[in-house]
Amino acid sequence: MHTKLLSWYEKHGRHDLPWRNTSDVYHVYVSEVMLQQTQVKRVLEEYYFQFLERFPTLETLASAPLDDVFSLWSGLGYYRRARNLHATAQLCAPALPTTSKELLALPGIGRYTASAICSFGYNQKISVVDTNIARVLTRYLGLRDPKEKELWSAADSLLHPKEVRSHNLALMDLGSLVCLPKNPLCDMCPLLFGCKAKENLHLFTKTTSKEYIDQDLYFGIYRKKEKLAFRKSREGMYKDMLELPRIEFQESGYIGTFKHSVTKYRLSISLYELEEEPLDVEYISLYEIERAPISSMTKKALTLYLKR
Ligand code: ADE
Repeated sequence: MHTKLLSWYEKHGRHDLPWRNTSDVYHVYVSEVMLQQTQVKRVLEEYYFQFLERFPTLETLASAPLDDVFSLWSGLGYYRRARNLHATAQLCAPALPTTSKELLALPGIGRYTASAICSFGYNQKISVVDTNIARVLTRYLGLRDPKEKELWSAADSLLHPKEVRSHNLALMDLGSLVCLPKNPLCDMCPLLFGCKAKENLHLFTKTTSKEYIDQDLYFGIYRKKEKLAFRKSREGMYKDMLELPRIEFQESGYIGTFKHSVTKYRLSISLYELEEEPLDVEYISLYEIERAPISSMTKKALTLYLKR
């Protein structure tokens, strides 16, 4: 199994990814946090290099204002990741700890991230399980609804005795390129021989679609000369980021509506021009707002407002 897996990886693996070609553990850490819930392509094209250019070391990240971190994270979503990254930098600068146990104690670092840092960054002998690897293990070993713990034990039981880093990356790539959730490409799989799911693939293939929550939200535009009113969000996924003031449904001043999907929410967002000044706001020019901590949702709202 190991030989086939590693030769498949050698030939078909994603060897060019920059975080696989660095010895800087901080860079590995940043990539892993960005790659949680975000596609490789987006991280590569829009975020990874830009972030590291602005914060090349753990120290530069630690000493930056949180707003600057949010600003470089803008559009990537799940802003709690950025907050945790910043908090971890402040706790650890100038260097991240070197054991999984110590890493696990840091904000936002769970078992996956700790293991990924140890395996990909420090080249330690440790198994890694992300959603892709979990799918490969589940199918290959024929596990039925395995719990987290079972998956990690399964990963340990299959771990290559020496080539640990390549083995983990190979499983990850196999999961994302071949052992796909809905239509796995079994013909191309190096682990087909010995795969317990092969005969009963339907038992191991996702068919259910995602459940969504539909929600209507209303935001207000209040303009003072060249500036707009913004409010710092106090809670939820946009905590500490700037938003247009949230309002109740309005009878007048309607500007328009747009759709925005984030995590399981399918939002329908309507904008209204306000006549009365909202409470607790700060005024920011459209020029400044480009550098401020705002989400893609807020960006879309501003675009709609500007082209109305
Ligand atoms: N290489 C190392 N970690 C990775 C990840 N989380 N996603 C894609 N490629 C990776």
